Amino acid sequence: MDYIFDEIIDRKHEKYSYSFKWKSPDYVCDQLGIESIPENTICLETADMDFRTAPEIIEDLKGLTEHGIFGYSLIPESYREAVCGWYARRQDWTFSPDDIFYFPGTHEAIAQLVKHYTKTGEGVIVLTPCYGYHGDVEKNGREYVEVRLINDGKEYFTIDYDALENACKDPNNTMIIMCHPHNPTGRVFTHEELVKVADICRRNGVLIVSDEVHSDILRKGQEFEPMMKACGPEKLIACTAINKTFNLAGLAMTNVVISDPDLKLQSAGLYSMPSPFGIQAVISAYTRGDAWVDALNEYIDGNIDACMNYIAEHLPKASLSRPEGGYSLNIDFSPYGLSDEEVVDRIYVKAGVILNSGLFFDDWRGKQVHRACLSSPRSVCLKAFERIAEEFKDCQ
Ligand SMILES: Cc1ncc(COP(=O)(O)O)c(C=O)c1O
Repeated sequence: MDYIFDEIIDRKHEKYSYSFKWKSPDYVCDQLGIESIPENTICLETADMDFRTAPEIIEDLKGLTEHGIFGYSLIPESYREAVCGWYARRQDWTFSPDDIFYFPGTHEAIAQLVKHYTKTGEGVIVLTPCYGYHGDVEKNGREYVEVRLINDGKEYFTIDYDALENACKDPNNTMIIMCHPHNPTGRVFTHEELVKVADICRRNGVLIVSDEVHSDILRKGQEFEPMMKACGPEKLIACTAINKTFNLAGLAMTNVVISDPDLKLQSAGLYSMPSPFGIQAVISAYTRGDAWVDALNEYIDGNIDACMNYIAEHLPKASLSRPEGGYSLNIDFSPYGLSDEEVVDRIYVKAGVILNSGLFFDDWRGKQVHRACLSSPRSVCLKAFERIAEEFKDCQ
């Protein structure tokens, strides 16, 4: 089947669109101190996609809609088999269907894991600059402990093992949240990196939670190795989801994998059941979604190439590195030598393009670095950079 990713869907006005990204750029503006933005903004912030999910999934959800009864729903055995099948097939990672614990979303999962496996006041380590786990940690009364990644100056990041060892040696720090692939840096950690991190954590009694929700979205030539496959199940919990892979984040279906018998959750502490739409989406995605994900990855590679080429030609001073995983490009505008306010004004207000600034990610060079999610039709992504380049052309 041919899949179409070029169609522009109006997520701001169309009936049935409740898009957080397109309808609520206000939180970005508040964070950056912007009073008003143009009506015709292009939103490349928030890691979701502007593509319809796989037609195979839509077909099954239509079938469910026609069934017409949406009562309390149980996870069937076929759901667990679908999850196991996907990871065995796509990532050569096998685990038992009994190792799967459903949570309504990954944040909910991580917040619950933090609550369950750590004590109030303890520290949870995060390799930063990182996507927002602050709430999951701090709202539970735990301490968010940063171990900064090493930036080579061109926005390529590696792990500072000495700093990690020091943080793990502190007996108050009892958990690490690994973001693998790493958002926003786009790193897909190698086997050696994963093994070294696991070794440091386990020697110091630090429980590993590996958030792998971006693991199906990989740039060409990259291979993803699940941390549990690389390092074994001992003192390690993995978070997987259909949210990013299939643009189904709104269904909030996260599958946590726990294969270490010493860690088994007796109860996930949940009060609600998954919706039948979520259950069906997981089954359909993981049994019928392979070809769509392969086509998606090819399309995103094309977006990354097109935008990187455009930036090299029209924003030549901007600094960036090619992502290994995910669909975001991080662009450092500091070589332009403009003030923070000027950079923000040119991109967000004058060009009308909404990105995520470094402030969002543990203050990664503040308002000079901006993350663009290239998970929109190519023409939209390029239009955004055309608008930005126009605003920087006086200082090339
Ligand atoms: C690494 C990572 N984990 C978790 C989430 C949120 O997942 P969920 O929508 O399932 O809570 C995101 C969203 O951007 C993310 O990038």
